[in-house]
Amino acid sequence: MAVITLNPLRSRGTISKNIYGHFSEHLGRCIYQGLYVGEGSSVPNVRGIRTAAVEALKKIGVPVLRWPGGCFADEYHWQDGIGPKEGRRRMVNTNWGGVVEDNSFGTHEFMDLCEQVGCDAYINANVGSGTVREMAEWLEYLNSDGDSTVVQARRANGRKDSWGVKYWGVGNESWGCGGNMRPEYYADVYRRYQTYCRTYGDHKPFRIACGASNGDYHWTEVLMREAARYMDGLSLHYYTLCGDTWEQKGSATEFTVEDYYKTLKRAAFMEELVSGHDAVMSRYDPEKRIGLVVDEWGTWYDVEPGTNPGFLFQQNTMRDAMVAAITLNIFNRHCDRVIMANLAQTVNVLQSVLLTEGDQVVLTPTYHVFDLYQAHQGGREVDCFLQTDSTGTEQWSLDQLTASASEKNGKYTVTVANLDAEKPSELRLTGIRAEKACARVLSGEIHEKNDFGASPLAIRPLEVRLSEAGDVCLTLPACSVAEITLS
Ligand code: AHR
Repeated sequence: MAVITLNPLRSRGTISKNIYGHFSEHLGRCIYQGLYVGEGSSVPNVRGIRTAAVEALKKIGVPVLRWPGGCFADEYHWQDGIGPKEGRRRMVNTNWGGVVEDNSFGTHEFMDLCEQVGCDAYINANVGSGTVREMAEWLEYLNSDGDSTVVQARRANGRKDSWGVKYWGVGNESWGCGGNMRPEYYADVYRRYQTYCRTYGDHKPFRIACGASNGDYHWTEVLMREAARYMDGLSLHYYTLCGDTWEQKGSATEFTVEDYYKTLKRAAFMEELVSGHDAVMSRYDPEKRIGLVVDEWGTWYDVEPGTNPGFLFQQNTMRDAMVAAITLNIFNRHCDRVIMANLAQTVNVLQSVLLTEGDQVVLTPTYHVFDLYQAHQGGREVDCFLQTDSTGTEQWSLDQLTASASEKNGKYTVTVANLDAEKPSELRLTGIRAEKACARVLSGEIHEKNDFGASPLAIRPLEVRLSEAGDVCLTLPACSVAEITLS
């Protein structure tokens, strides 16, 4: 029997709702045909934005959306995407599939999407091939109500009041597709760019510096040493692969049980990464003023056979649900440093929550995990001590269960996943005397997925038993993710 002991007296603080953020790039069918179908489309839409996608994203309480990239961000020139659509400049998306980008989805469309979903915008500015002026004027266009030429242009384009975008990324992967810079050089470039992230009215930008890839602690060290006082957040990117090289990342749907555990073990490496980068940051920022922003994470497999290799389209199985469960529990438990995270990427790209084809929309298993975890948003993290068996193979062994907990208005939420591919787990929750308890679960065979025409995976109620001492007992099915609510 596994045991989770909750200790409400110990907490790492508030779980930022933005840990449940998403990322949408001009890549493959994420924006075009995914979130945006265009006003003339037969697919139900509001001003070109797919209604079913908006409804699905609202249902899981998406708090923040990052855009326009990714690598695309450092080749994106925002002026190309405003004004009458017929006159918008066309470009070739050299990063992703070499397709023509007609810029019909630009700043106004993105802000409309955020308003329809009810989430904050996180805009990633172009440092790699842009200019300081270009970034500064984009910020002015979005946040100022002054009578400048830039603001007059916004008004002429149909938006009277500023939107007040808070989150600003200054470059993306500046060590790679965003300019191949050395950390020492980027730190200076960052200091220069952020100077012109001006505050208009009470719209104070939250400046996010480009951070490290994986375990590049040197990058974090240099950025913190040279530029800590000029930033509010520092990013981190980490993708979970199954295969051992970028050429052979493994299939999203055809994998062995060993591959399953290998993928989960690699996802669990996020614990070491977050702790490691936090430790470096803490040497310069012991008060934890600067947030770690994991603005790209998720699984990255080989594309589905027959699809454009530059579109990064992959299916999503229960294995991905387990990756999401492991990762989100890690972020919750590190909420004193991790203040935002953005799953890559919302629709039709990498570990999506939605897949679309024509007017059809599929909710992936990962989508359901975000649904099960949403009560954590803004909750007070509660220490949960986990006693569990281990699972996996000799090479890829890991704890059978992963968990995190939070409290809001006297109600506790515990999210727990049973990673074992075959064995259920008996679980007892103790530490608080519960009077009421209920649970919901997503479970399935490790390869199971939702697809067009058949979506067998959905959240269902899970039976719980309350002991006389107020402990909560339940059986977690094999390969399952559950939300347990107690009060
Ligand atoms: O999410 C896909 C790509 O992965 C992003 O464009 C880039 O930032 C990262 O390398």
